[in-house]
Amino acid sequence: MFSLPKNVAIIEVGPRDGLQNEKNEVPTGVKLEFIEKLQQAGIEEMEITSFVSPKWVPQMKDAKKIVANTRQVGRQFVLTPNEKGMELAKEAGASSFAVFVGVSDSFNKKNINKTTEESMHELKPFVQNLLKDGHFVRACISTAFYCPYEGAIDPAKTLELCKEFVSWGVNELSVADTIGMANPKESYILFDAIKKEFKDTLITAHFHDTRKMGLANIFAALQAGVDRFDSSAGGLGGCPFAPGATGNVATEDVVNMLHQMNIETNINLDLLLQAVEVVAPYASRPIETGMYKLFKSK
Ligand code: HMG
Ligand code: MG
Repeated sequence: MFSLPKNVAIIEVGPRDGLQNEKNEVPTGVKLEFIEKLQQAGIEEMEITSFVSPKWVPQMKDAKKIVANTRQVGRQFVLTPNEKGMELAKEAGASSFAVFVGVSDSFNKKNINKTTEESMHELKPFVQNLLKDGHFVRACISTAFYCPYEGAIDPAKTLELCKEFVSWGVNELSVADTIGMANPKESYILFDAIKKEFKDTLITAHFHDTRKMGLANIFAALQAGVDRFDSSAGGLGGCPFAPGATGNVATEDVVNMLHQMNIETNINLDLLLQAVEVVAPYASRPIETGMYKLFKSK
């Protein structure tokens, strides 16, 4: 018989991963309303923006305003790729940080313009300083399963990168299927190995839903003992430097699936749908949530 946790933490990544790849410009005020409504729905941990080059990712150019105008309750993460990003984020008042590195060199070069080793070398002192100053640091491990340029990734290489971050003392590893190609068997095997090896670090799974295996991958990761999942309201998202990949698994679908299985998330699905409605008019593809309203009305 399979085992399931009683509680699961959802880390909402819609305002960051969800909006970074949107073609339509989303006004800062709309992003702030989206974040506020997500908080009202019970989201306590969220990636709200990223401090990256506005030339590379113009959608995140209002990062400073987003941090300044977001209620800093729970953990409101900002993504930072380098020293400059960390300094800007600290100046803006951020307190929880996410750094991101790809297992695959080719992806990392396209994403951050550095090899994996160069990124790790650059990040180490800054991450250690953040931790020393009492900040929470999550390390996002991209292309943990597949790379859009190199294909299948050896799980041993993913474990090696996780191990290095853990040796720095990061609080959390968010391990990502960047292009949404992993299957549930692969998810179980990798997350089982990660959970067994890194017992004192928070482990989170981050699934993109390109091949519609996101929920199945979450179910597989639950079996491996994972009880933290990144997801994006409305299923928006994708990395601009991972061609072909679509959005994250939709938060409303994850919350619905977990609640149907009597797993608590502390998230109110009705309020979450109200948050989705704030960004839906700006999404470049339709977001389908009508089914949940129909379900509720019965
Ligand atoms: P570069 O061109 O090599 O950087 O880009 P540079 O150091 O040569 O600087 C170039 C310019 O950018 C300079 O400005 C810098 O000041 C500026 P200029 O002199 O030309 O006016 N700059 C910055 N500005 C703001 N914030 C910064 C910053 N750094 C430099 N932090 C760089 C290197 C890392 C900046 C660039 O490659 C970049 O911004 N990449 C970000 C890519 C990105 O955001 N990707 C998406 C997030 S990761 C993701 O989605 C995956 C994840 O969801 C998990 C998964 O699914 O896999 C987390
Ligand atoms: Mg992602």
